[in-house]
Amino acid sequence: MTDREILDLICGAEREAAALILRARGILAECKSGRRDVVTEYDRRVQTLLVERLSAAVPGARFFCEENDRHDDLHADLVFIIDPIDGTMNFVRGFHHSCISVACMRRGRLAAGAIYNPYVDELFTALDGGGAFLNDRPIRVSDEGLGASVVCVGTAPYSPALADRSFALMKAAYLAGLDIRREGSAALDLCSVAAGRAGAYFELGLSLWDYAAGKLIVEEAGGVCCRIDGEALPLDPSRPSVAAGGPQALRELLELAKEIR
Ligand code: IPD
Ligand code: CA
Ligand code: CA
Repeated sequence: MTDREILDLICGAEREAAALILRARGILAECKSGRRDVVTEYDRRVQTLLVERLSAAVPGARFFCEENDRHDDLHADLVFIIDPIDGTMNFVRGFHHSCISVACMRRGRLAAGAIYNPYVDELFTALDGGGAFLNDRPIRVSDEGLGASVVCVGTAPYSPALADRSFALMKAAYLAGLDIRREGSAALDLCSVAAGRAGAYFELGLSLWDYAAGKLIVEEAGGVCCRIDGEALPLDPSRPSVAAGGPQALRELLELAKEIR
């Protein structure tokens, strides 16, 4: 299958699974690693549907998914990286700002990614070397500096030990930029950067399923996605920090981060 065919497959599966999110009623949250880390039956049902559709169309595909600990080898010929609902706390609390995020990695290379926000019917897509799109229209990161940018931030809610540094950097970004946003979905934060809505984004600890598709979408939109220390972002389970932005705003954000330990 070509990367394009894989992307179309992912998009079709995400649109189908989105109906589960939009029709969800009586949502009950269960705690996973702690009281902030929650899961619902809908996270599991969305993931099951995606895995069924993708494995039926791509026999032998491997999976690296958030729920149920399905963590296959990331260096396989073809592995789908799935966050069935990114922004589960928003989903549970009725904030209507969550998405489905799926990336396809081929032998360690991000080949395709799609992030779908069903509440506003926004589908962000990218193919390696093929540009980034929002509902089939090309998108581009902002070329403005931090002083003319809104900065999306994440609190790394499952790692409270990072709170002091996170909040210090948020304050610095707020003072240097126009304002900050904490919207509750890392994948959609990366899409906001890709679409030029936010000049930059950072969060000091994320899982691979949170950022795999978004990284490709940001880069294909002309942006940069790296660690907060400016090093390359690993495509592995190490829970690195993630920073993204248009080149100018990101450069300034990384400079601020050097001052805050
Ligand atoms: C979370 C969201 C949130 C971010 C957390 C993520 P989940 O993903 O992306 O915005 O701050 O770090 O874990 O748990 O809703 O899939
Ligand atoms: Ca997530
Ligand atoms: Ca999730």
